Amino acid sequence: MPTAVVLLPAMLLCAVVAAVAANGLTVKPGCQASCGGVDIPYPFGIGAGCFRPGFEIGCDSGKPSLPGTAAGSVGIPVLSLSVMPRPEARVMLPVAFQCFNSTGDSIDYSWGTVDFNPVGVYRISNASNELVVLGCNTVIYTNSGPPGRSKYSYYSGCVAYCNDSRSAQDGACAGIGCCRVDIPPGLTGNWMRLGSGSGEWSHANQEFSPCDYAFIVEKGYYVFKVDHLTKMPRTQTMPMRLDWAIRDTDINSAGSMYSCAQVASRKDYTCVSSHSVCVDSANGPGYYCNCTKGYEGNPYLHEGCKNINECERPEEFPCNGKCDDIDGSYNCVCRKGYQSNGDPKENPCTPSFSRTAKLALGLSFGLSIMIAAVLTTFIKLERTKRKELFRKNGGNILQNVKVITIYTKDELDTITKKCSELLGRGSFGYVYKGTLRDKTIVAVKASIQVTEKTKEDFAKEVEIQARMIHRNILKLLGCCLEVDVPMLVYKFAARGSLEEVLHVKKLEPLSLDLRLDIAIGSAEGLRYMHCGTTEPILHGDVKPGNILLDETFTPKISDFGLSKLPTQEYYKTNCVVGPFAFLDPVFKQTRLLTPKSDVYSFGAVLVELITRKKNDHEQERLKKFCKLYTEHGSARAMFDKDIVTSEDIFMLEEIGKLATDCLKQVSDDRPDMTEVVEQLVVLRRSRRHRITREISDPEDTSTTNTPKRT
Ligand SMILES: *[C@@H]1O[C@H](CO)[C@@H](O)[C@H](O)[C@H]1NC(C)=O
Ligand SMILES: *[C@@H]1O[C@H](CO)[C@@H](O)[C@H](O)[C@H]1NC(C)=O
Ligand SMILES: *[C@@H]1O[C@H](CO)[C@@H](O)[C@H](O)[C@H]1NC(C)=O
Ligand SMILES: *[C@@H]1O[C@H](CO)[C@@H](O)[C@H](O)[C@H]1NC(C)=O
Repeated sequence: MPTAVVLLPAMLLCAVVAAVAANGLTVKPGCQASCGGVDIPYPFGIGAGCFRPGFEIGCDSGKPSLPGTAAGSVGIPVLSLSVMPRPEARVMLPVAFQCFNSTGDSIDYSWGTVDFNPVGVYRISNASNELVVLGCNTVIYTNSGPPGRSKYSYYSGCVAYCNDSRSAQDGACAGIGCCRVDIPPGLTGNWMRLGSGSGEWSHANQEFSPCDYAFIVEKGYYVFKVDHLTKMPRTQTMPMRLDWAIRDTDINSAGSMYSCAQVASRKDYTCVSSHSVCVDSANGPGYYCNCTKGYEGNPYLHEGCKNINECERPEEFPCNGKCDDIDGSYNCVCRKGYQSNGDPKENPCTPSFSRTAKLALGLSFGLSIMIAAVLTTFIKLERTKRKELFRKNGGNILQNVKVITIYTKDELDTITKKCSELLGRGSFGYVYKGTLRDKTIVAVKASIQVTEKTKEDFAKEVEIQARMIHRNILKLLGCCLEVDVPMLVYKFAARGSLEEVLHVKKLEPLSLDLRLDIAIGSAEGLRYMHCGTTEPILHGDVKPGNILLDETFTPKISDFGLSKLPTQEYYKTNCVVGPFAFLDPVFKQTRLLTPKSDVYSFGAVLVELITRKKNDHEQERLKKFCKLYTEHGSARAMFDKDIVTSEDIFMLEEIGKLATDCLKQVSDDRPDMTEVVEQLVVLRRSRRHRITREISDPEDTSTTNTPKRT
């Protein structure tokens, strides 16, 4: 299984490709379906007869490209092409720049001119991109479109200014050294109007920012670094998204382009599949095609839109009963003996008692009535007992909570097949695997013993957990109260806990990327607990064993069974929370849990992630780790050798540094979870940035790669 880990990103890619292919025809018969790992769906195509005019893709060097021209290269690199659900193309475009010498004279420049639009099918997406300008004392804009009151209809740009070499800041792009603006729809090409660099925009004696740069880039992709002002290579490229549409010209109407209303009756109407519709383009004139509801695939090919089998995708198309796929839709009805207050696609199916009643009616008189009476008494007694437990366990409070499903004892037995598959032991009892009626796999777990006194707290706790909806928090789906110790039903995490993945299953190697993603996901889950809900929720027991991983290694924070609102006195008790290996020493003394205690434990988890060695109860390893940082500024010797490479050592040291910040002895010196997430995300961005750059620009790996050390 080890290769699965390394290949994860590639596998995800494959999944997407396969899904598209499975939906039916995405290429014209006999045409090449992909190039360099990029899918080429019709109307795109490679080679004569395979594409619609204007949608040609080149594949000469084994990499897909648009046939337009960019300065210094033939063809514009393509990252992806999509037909559904949005008509979109992702490409890499060069950055425009202008450099000055110390007397302020321009010595080199490029407008970044790219003509990707010889037939006019592309527009730069205004929804997905932004314009970024880097420089000091600089105004740069782009312009495009047909003549308006000025030469063009669209102008868009911004001013970047810095007072001196120290004023710009990493990550801040609000006018100091870096500015960004949204762009209007309708932009047809890429080129930048560069400033003159003279007069009030002089660049003389500005060695801290000798060049200006401007580029349109996918929103959220670019993160400003002060280094870029001096070190961005002039050959830098950036990813950008293009909207595309069918823009055929109506020769009878002065060159205007067809909209859906005009094209529907024409022979060259392009939405040829049955179950397809025409949609007017939102960016520029023209139209594109979509499959109608209940169908997916490629509307540009005959029979390209295929029926969706909704029953195979319960996440997207829920059904709480029996699902039946029909052409273009699906039917969903409750199973025999169950009923629902409304549509079972949305509402749960619950057992209907009418069946028992009917059965009783159907029985003949005499003996049968007696048996029925005995049975009824028996059922009543059993029901009374269950009702009693239900009430004792806070059921009356919980049944008004909409977000949680309350299962009966019988339903629970069906779900766990009478507890037949044991997963392990939790803090308070056994954990069983189960399957819900919609095939969702779940973990069913005993919670704490509830008494009359604690039932309100318990109910409140369950409600809080059920309301926590976040991709990095283990989802509580429901509970069963008709048993002695209430049982909680959680979404099942297929890969088990981080502890198992790191130390028991020994999946090898776990890439640094994956570990960073796990760290970020876990930190986001904790941040959500601390700040994403109306009242902060503390975990109190953060450790790798409580970070579960699903099929795609997405971390899910779990087991905050002991968590309570911080306002409660609960923590001042002698109850020991968490194993000592991860326990905040401040908490040990004060017995008062704060968000910073979770931060401390998270720091200890980070250390385990990058060293892949278990922390000991005396925390000797953590002390050693921090000591190495204090004395040598790095704990390089302790890092997991599997992930130490010369390119990644900086990244590891930064993560280690963050861990030591979390492990500070004084709570106030530790960052909060929001800061932790931000720092990790900045590290990941700079890493991806570097990798994309190495791919797009193999000659220039020497500059601006290393994240700035703080
Ligand atoms: C800057 O460039 C201009 C024009 O090429 C030149 O005249 C001037 O001498 C250069 N200044 C320096 C300091 O190199
Ligand atoms: C992009 O342009 C379209 C068409 O004018 C507009 O509806 C949409 O709101 C714009 N999107 C953004 C994010 O500006
Ligand atoms: C701007 O730069 C000048 C000279 O470099 C410096 O004296 C001044 O303090 C700076 N002003 C601010 C607000 O940073
Ligand atoms: C295309 O069809 C899908 C499925 O019916 C729908 O979800 C999507 O919103 C449609 N897209 C547009 C732009 O109409």
